[in-house]
Amino acid sequence: MCGIVGYVGHRQAVEVLLEGLRRLEYRGYDSAGVAVVNHRLQVVKTAGRLPRLEAMVASRPGVDGFVGIGHTRWATHGAPTDTNAHPHLDCHGRIGVVHNGIIDNFAELKEQLAARGHRFRSDTDTEVVAHLLEELYRGDLAACVRQAAARLRGSWALAVVSSDEPGVVVLARHDSPLVVGVGDGELVAGSDPAAVLRWTRRMVYLHNGDVARLSQEGIQVWDGSGRPVLRPEQEFPWDARAAERGGYPHFMLKEIHEQPDAVQNTLHGRIRADRLEVDLQDAGVDRAWLSGFQRVMVVACGTAWHAGLAGQGLLEDALGRPVWVELGSEFRHRPHRVDERTLTVVVSQSGETADTLAALREARRRGSPVLAIVNVEGSTIAREADRVLYTRAGPEVAVASTKAYTAQVVALALLSALAAGGEVERRRVQELLQLPQRLRQVLEQEPRIREVAVQLAASEHAFYIGRGLDWAVAMEGALKMKEISYIHAEAYAAGELKHGTLALIEEGRPVVALSTQRALQAKMLGNIQEVKARGARVVGVT
Ligand code: M6R
Repeated sequence: MCGIVGYVGHRQAVEVLLEGLRRLEYRGYDSAGVAVVNHRLQVVKTAGRLPRLEAMVASRPGVDGFVGIGHTRWATHGAPTDTNAHPHLDCHGRIGVVHNGIIDNFAELKEQLAARGHRFRSDTDTEVVAHLLEELYRGDLAACVRQAAARLRGSWALAVVSSDEPGVVVLARHDSPLVVGVGDGELVAGSDPAAVLRWTRRMVYLHNGDVARLSQEGIQVWDGSGRPVLRPEQEFPWDARAAERGGYPHFMLKEIHEQPDAVQNTLHGRIRADRLEVDLQDAGVDRAWLSGFQRVMVVACGTAWHAGLAGQGLLEDALGRPVWVELGSEFRHRPHRVDERTLTVVVSQSGETADTLAALREARRRGSPVLAIVNVEGSTIAREADRVLYTRAGPEVAVASTKAYTAQVVALALLSALAAGGEVERRRVQELLQLPQRLRQVLEQEPRIREVAVQLAASEHAFYIGRGLDWAVAMEGALKMKEISYIHAEAYAAGELKHGTLALIEEGRPVVALSTQRALQAKMLGNIQEVKARGARVVGVT
């Protein structure tokens, strides 16, 4: 995960770049850098967090110019050092490159380029792009990036500048998103709309394979086969405030507190309150369409996969047909399970996750219609799916999904209520309508939750246990614990503990036990007794 910003306009580029990088710091924060074009490339980059780069820029007057690129990095190839920070330059310091993604064939290219005399300074995969461009450059940076892209394998969002074309930023995208904000007399590029929103809400989304040239004359785009294309401008649905912290100490906390509103937005216009019925016409989905399939595959990654697992039972009960949930990265190993009688439901907050996108494409290739449950409008998954049910959770700035997950589960609950029809649908709708208020009641308990969290903070390991739907939720809880606190956490189907893992429950071990389904309560109490008997410290969620 990294972040890219690019600028062409009338402001001091470095100011726009640093502002954009502040919005993207959540994407990566082990090093950062900028390159501003004047007669030459002025590069400032450093390991460490963004304030360090800001201090360096401030202490080095003369980083001026109206065109530039910036990057915030989360290291994959090469340790987070000053040298490995982006931008990377060619041998003569005339071409600067920032990159998100991974160049799979970088080792091979590096060997070839080094054999031809190129001098490499970093351990990154990205630097090969700068040297490749140096070899291919014949006076047209955009053409040269198109040629270079044809030699790369892997995934990339690239922003490139050259002192030979000081008014130009060239972008290229392949399985890693890029968007261009169109302001008055200025263009701001970003790997995420959050980087751009401060300046404009008019966005041009680049498609996979596109190369774009940004200059004072505007945007020119070529598609993957090199044909000039027009990509339309779209109004971004959220304003800049949605991507601010709004008084919260950090974005994750803000997004946790946004859950009631996120759920309200997911439901908005999709429930006929007078008849307690679900209406998903905006997604082009109705009961007849859903019941026309023999089975359903839900495919997603990470948190979105957990949301799929939470929705699985609901959908299966409603449809009375098999529903299974795949990880995007695993689906490619057994795609034959999908055909035109299978509905593929793709779940993704960003709409850009490469494994999920690859699964979508494979499912469609096999004739399976795809319904995408996506948060980001205009994202690649939203564009490539047959139908789209937007979760409308608002921008996710914290990398740890919270409100996006809740909204995904609600979208799946809506889908299953619609599929069920009758009394089940009416009951579900009533429950869903109460959900925002119930979420508020949970959030009001924040002081008590904080007390519990403080007690757990010193633990090295934790368990999350539950049955049925609670087991799916336990998996998401354990992921959040690992991702945010770096405490090792395992989610277990509560009835499975006795088949071996109980040995790990010892005095003081935290066990978060979820019990939210009445029918399973007695069984869960039994499992709680089991772990308590071994000295576990149980936190009950009920
Ligand atoms: O944008 P997506 O929902 O497709 O992202 C998939 C995962 O990378 C994502 O859900 C990830 O697991 C969470 N952000 C972790 O909190």
